[in-house]
Amino acid sequence: MENNCAVILAAGAGKRMKSDKPKVLCEVLCKPMLGWVVSSCEQAGIDQICAVTGHGRELVEDYLAGRCATAYQAEQLGTGHAVLCAEDFLREHLDGDVVILCGDAPFMDSRTISQAHKAHAEQGNAVTVISAELDNPSGYGRIVREGGAVTGIVEQKDATPEQIAIREVNSGTYWFKVRDLLGILNEIKPDNAQGEYYLTDAVRLLLGQGKKVGAYTAETPDVVLGANDRKTLYRLNTIAREMIIERHMENGVEFVCTDGVIIDPDVEIDCGATILPGTILKGKTKIEAHAVIGPNSLIEDSTIGQHSVINATQVYQSAVHDQVKIGPFCHIRPNSVIHTKVKIGDFVEVKNSVVGAGTAISHLTYVGDSDVGKNVNFGCGCVTVNYDGINKFRTTIEDGAFIGCNTNLVAPVTVGENAYTAAGSTITKDVPGGALGIGRAKQVNREGFADKKLAGRKTKV
Ligand code: UD1
Ligand code: CA
Repeated sequence: MENNCAVILAAGAGKRMKSDKPKVLCEVLCKPMLGWVVSSCEQAGIDQICAVTGHGRELVEDYLAGRCATAYQAEQLGTGHAVLCAEDFLREHLDGDVVILCGDAPFMDSRTISQAHKAHAEQGNAVTVISAELDNPSGYGRIVREGGAVTGIVEQKDATPEQIAIREVNSGTYWFKVRDLLGILNEIKPDNAQGEYYLTDAVRLLLGQGKKVGAYTAETPDVVLGANDRKTLYRLNTIAREMIIERHMENGVEFVCTDGVIIDPDVEIDCGATILPGTILKGKTKIEAHAVIGPNSLIEDSTIGQHSVINATQVYQSAVHDQVKIGPFCHIRPNSVIHTKVKIGDFVEVKNSVVGAGTAISHLTYVGDSDVGKNVNFGCGCVTVNYDGINKFRTTIEDGAFIGCNTNLVAPVTVGENAYTAAGSTITKDVPGGALGIGRAKQVNREGFADKKLAGRKTKV
């Protein structure tokens, strides 16, 4: 797709969504609709992308964060006007083709974009409209043909009763020769029912100049679907959820039951992994072969290695290596690395820490800002005391150390290789390798204490 570019129209407010966010940032499967469209362009091999922003400009620019160029449309005067706002960007690609897309139609996929471009190039068209056949075309622009050839696109509000009956609709995505598009953009006038500058008028104007116009009918009608309100957004979520789960099934991922399973479109899952009910996988997450995730787990921007098991647990921005067992009821917070064959049991929180291979943290423990070596054993109820109320400090636990039950490790502190801490200790000084650190009051037994205390007391039963 050398020299070709994309312009994504994303300036609309979407009032009916009743959201604080601009419409294009409303999410389908945890990913803004605009993100779906940008990904489709990138997957089609287009890296020169310009988004036209308007409503919520800062939010949209922040979301895109340098991923593509932007142009600003201060007032939303229509799709034709929106493209005109990207004129400077288009002039940089004068000899190429541009695909114009809607930022609120997330299912326009890379395959459809590429195939439409193939048809566009082969037929030597000035514009190729991507169309779809819908059972219910209501609300969409209709493709008007004469003797099979496309002669125009008419919006529902401007259509005659015969045109209303047409089931072939405009997806809102088109390939143009940039030079031809720029040649007519200024000719578009707002002389229609909505008083808007319609990009769809480009078809009629190019025909008027004797240029070739074509339509590429998408294989699946879903590519046209967009969201205008919460109900249609929910519908898109439902369609996308099924579509993505089916794609993973085709790739050999096992789902016993898909209740409550939500998988973000960018998640990768290797063949042989199992996803159990109630699992939500978000962001840049990768699940490797034979891992078992769920039930009731949430994983965001993390990698889970082969044969690892994540049960009723949440993992954020972390790497879990192979053959690790985590859960139930654990919280792996950002920037943690859990090495091979680690076992993390119930009610354990790990934050910003490295946990070495073979280490066991079985119950009720907090490991934060720590570097934990290999084959370390934590007893029940241990705490790395990493925060003094002002600053945070790191704890180092070297290979083979044994942290007794209910140990507090007051950072900064190091427990050396193969060292022990006595149960119930509060460790404030380094424990040398191989030593036993005891940091607790010595036990005193007062003989006969109970007899004195209970003298004369009546028992209840
Ligand atoms: C448009 C098409 C219609 C097509 C439909 C597919 C026109 C005139 N009509 O209608 O034929 O069937 O898309 O969804 O183009 N936008 C801007 N600036 C504006 C106006 C719109 O950036 O001034 C953006 C919107 O944010 C949206 C996209 O363009 O992402 C489409 O605009 P919208 O108003 O939804 O167009 P439709 O009426 O749906
Ligand atoms: Ca629309």
